[in-house]
Amino acid sequence: MINQKEYKTRRQKLSQFINEGVLILPGNISYIRNHDVEFDFRQNSDFWYLSGFNEPNAIMVITFTPAVEYILFVEPYDVNYHIWLGERAGIEGAINNFMADKAYPINEINNILPEIILEFNNIYYRNGSNPTIDSIINKYSNSNLRSVTGSRGNYNLRKSDTIESTNIIDPIPFISQLRLYKSDNEIDLIKNAVNISKIGFEHILNILKPGINEYEIQTELEYQFRKNGARYNAYPSIVASGENACVLHYINNNSTLNADEFILIDAGAEYENYASDITRTYPINKTVNTLRQMIYDVVFDAQQNAIKSVKPGATLSDIHKTALKVLIQGLKDIKILEGSFDEIIENGLYKEFYMHGTSHWLGLDVHDTCPYTLNQKDISLAPGMIFTVEPGLYFSNRSNYSNKNKILSGTGIRIEDDILVTKNGYINLSTDISYR
Ligand code: GLY
Ligand code: MN
Ligand code: MN
Repeated sequence: MINQKEYKTRRQKLSQFINEGVLILPGNISYIRNHDVEFDFRQNSDFWYLSGFNEPNAIMVITFTPAVEYILFVEPYDVNYHIWLGERAGIEGAINNFMADKAYPINEINNILPEIILEFNNIYYRNGSNPTIDSIINKYSNSNLRSVTGSRGNYNLRKSDTIESTNIIDPIPFISQLRLYKSDNEIDLIKNAVNISKIGFEHILNILKPGINEYEIQTELEYQFRKNGARYNAYPSIVASGENACVLHYINNNSTLNADEFILIDAGAEYENYASDITRTYPINKTVNTLRQMIYDVVFDAQQNAIKSVKPGATLSDIHKTALKVLIQGLKDIKILEGSFDEIIENGLYKEFYMHGTSHWLGLDVHDTCPYTLNQKDISLAPGMIFTVEPGLYFSNRSNYSNKNKILSGTGIRIEDDILVTKNGYINLSTDISYR
């Protein structure tokens, strides 16, 4: 659990990037699924990162003068809403429980926000992220706000009164830089998500057999996630047998499992909005043909070698290169690829079988939005960063190779673990989940 003090510290850390200005960050709104039924609510990750506030339709405003003032616009407490759907924090809760310096009802934003932004030359806002804010900022740019009257009378004159003289700056890259370094509390939450995933994966090993359907596996897996404390998945589970594993983000999950094939399961529990992201590829029948097993072993070696190369100072490109080297050597040994290593890389010949990257950041988002480069240089790994290592090899019956050689057709192997960088190296958070 992240306490409110930590959220406050994160907001204050934004002062590294913002000296003078106002940051406007909308949370997620509630979306209609059909008629009057809403989708389950999941807070916007940046909004959550800076607030821990889990209600829809809220907007955060932080002013930097450079002193930091935190203002929340929220849905007010409503007794009728309480009767039908539950309690809301309201204005009092925003102040008392979420450390807002000021809080207002969201339906007053049109009146109050212009008054706040009048004071600043720099507006930190991602254009297009909320129609209400877009139109406030548009109005602010196109009309002379000095003539606009709000609920509190005439707005103050502001220092500059056209958008041309006001800087609109996207704040998300700054928040993303903070999100790159996980605190001890965040690491604990991700460890928890991984441990819940482990229970699900290990359960699957007990029920795996030919004749059952992919969605049965999905249901059993997700039941274990729920039962062990994960209300949601970090992303839709991929439960893909045979050829389906060659669709990288396969989510239909509705084929029957055949003997002699592999099943690829790429799934992760989400715990308090923190993701885990794990892939295992298991033989459905305990044994598979030798060539398929050889491909599995190549992917496993590539993955384990890539993980061993993790250390502070290395980059995700280095990790990818290590995985690629082992994959290409393996494909050469099995005589699937010919030519020198350099030729294969230069001409991208491996991409028929390995067409995705090896790693991505992991955190509040499964593909965490942290930067991969800074000032045109790859980010160097440092303690507290968390990412995946997930090489794979795919032999789809759509591939050129399968036109010539059917024996591997319908084989997709991927193995994925979640890696924490430490002072002296790394911890593989998911290594306890059986690989075979
Ligand atoms: N589960 C999606 C991925 O591994 O990137
Ligand atoms: Mn995955
Ligand atoms: Mn992944």
